[in-house]
Amino acid sequence: MPASQSPPLPSSPPPVAEDGRRGFFAQASAVVIGGLLVVCPFLAGLSVFADPLRRKSGNGQFLRVARLDALAEDGAPRRFPVVADRRDAWTKYPPAPIGAVFLRRVKSPAQVEAFNVICPHLGCSVSFNAPRDIFQCPCHTSAFDVEGQVLSGPSPRGLDTLECEIRDNGSGSEIWVKFENFHTGRTDKEPKA
Ligand code: FES
Repeated sequence: MPASQSPPLPSSPPPVAEDGRRGFFAQASAVVIGGLLVVCPFLAGLSVFADPLRRKSGNGQFLRVARLDALAEDGAPRRFPVVADRRDAWTKYPPAPIGAVFLRRVKSPAQVEAFNVICPHLGCSVSFNAPRDIFQCPCHTSAFDVEGQVLSGPSPRGLDTLECEIRDNGSGSEIWVKFENFHTGRTDKEPKA
């Protein structure tokens, strides 16, 4: 080629390099999509597998707590444990206490009233002081009347009432309580999940 002539400029990049880039992106896309196809079903399966671990037994269920004739005739509250069968997707556990309630006879609107024993201030267990006819919390001295209303102390609300039903089992009346725990330290009664 004469020295005065320049070599012709290529009209496009070499085809080998273009093919190389395309190949790289295709491979990378295949790896990403393949990874997603593996990971997504795995995560879905993991959430199903782990779900029973997150379940809490008992909260929000009606549970048999006591016989009606175990309550004091004079309307004084009595404390009863709440026992529940616990089971998840894999295992059935022996019945175990999941909380406690005070039950007392009332004239209306139902025959029985139920309170969760947990103090709405910060979650200690209240006790019933029979001579004074009040509930008392040992932690920060909140006191409640026999109907669960705050008399004194820092509790932001009265004792948490629970729904209850009286059911006849054929040989006597039983008290079933819809057992729930509630968030503490607030004025509203918000059930825990
Ligand atoms: S936990 Fe009951 S008064 Fe604080």
